[in-house]
Amino acid sequence: MTIDTVRVDLASRSYDILVGDGVLAAAGEHLCRALGRRPLVIVTDQRVAGLHLPALQASLAAAGFGGGAAVILPPGEMTKDFSHLQQLVDGLLERGIERGTVVVALGGGVIGDLVGFAAAVTLRGLDFVQVPTTLLAQVDSSVGGKTGINSHHGKNLIGAFHQPRLVLADIGTLETLEPRQVRAGYAEIVKYGLIGDPDFFAWLESHGLALIAGDSTARRRAVVTSCRAKAAIVGRDERESGDRALLNLGHTFGHALEVTAGYGDRLLHGEAVAIGMVLAFELSARLGLAPAADVLRVKAHLFEAGLPTSPAEIAGIAWNAGALQAHMAHDKKVKDGRITFVLARGIGRAILTRDVDPAEVLAVLEGAVRG
Ligand code: GLY
Repeated sequence: MTIDTVRVDLASRSYDILVGDGVLAAAGEHLCRALGRRPLVIVTDQRVAGLHLPALQASLAAAGFGGGAAVILPPGEMTKDFSHLQQLVDGLLERGIERGTVVVALGGGVIGDLVGFAAAVTLRGLDFVQVPTTLLAQVDSSVGGKTGINSHHGKNLIGAFHQPRLVLADIGTLETLEPRQVRAGYAEIVKYGLIGDPDFFAWLESHGLALIAGDSTARRRAVVTSCRAKAAIVGRDERESGDRALLNLGHTFGHALEVTAGYGDRLLHGEAVAIGMVLAFELSARLGLAPAADVLRVKAHLFEAGLPTSPAEIAGIAWNAGALQAHMAHDKKVKDGRITFVLARGIGRAILTRDVDPAEVLAVLEGAVRG
């Protein structure tokens, strides 16, 4: 069993991401080595509990951790709200936790974000460990310390930066994911190639389909490369005062699409990011930044990966370019009324700019909704 270690370098808040097959079965040993044998509470959702909780509990018991009873929440994005935060914090307090208790988040992005936020605010801050079980969580949301819940005003508007103490990414857990969820997570992997690693993008062009189909060597390599890219960015800009915003490539367009689609099954976050990345490249080409050939390459690869590349492909939604642009203006990255765009000078050459003519954005959106 090979395990790769990626270090997130943040002075006293530094931590390791362990990636490999069988990491979950050895979670007790890894936790003991990183944090000592401390009281802990696992938090997961009903779906993941049925798949991976017994293995985690057995590993913790074998390593001499007491307790291990879990707080089990409903699955789905609706769980990332105030009422479930309250339920979770009450659940933790009812278990008689103390400042030294470690909270273990077992699940996808919803569980990781919610549990991280609960850990940040309970007893003014508890240590927490991420055990991400989806591709999206392994390559993005479990790393970097963004935690939070949604408000009816928008996604992730209530939250805190709270870094985990350890991330355990078991590639084997990806085998239980629906193919559509794998593809949605894959969009975030492609993002790292587009931001700053053209060789990785080229590698994905030749290995991406095998990865999606289940090739565990390709999956491990992609998760490690993605985590390294994210760790490097977070290490130099933890609180997103600069470079970290590059990780939002495709997200400003994507969030507007998600709000319109209603955060449900019709459009998954990763699918919205895939369309958003195409739109960001189309806008870049329109502004004379990126070559048109790169736009075609990005689109072709996402299409081949089975991801949507235009809002017009998502049926049953009355897309409207003006309304999408209005949603973009409400993004939490808007500063002094201006949107920070992540555009690109080409594949692997993403840049940040606030200097974009809204008429050009509208023209891209109009083209996109027509299909
Ligand atoms: N998902 C983007 C970030 O963590 O900054």
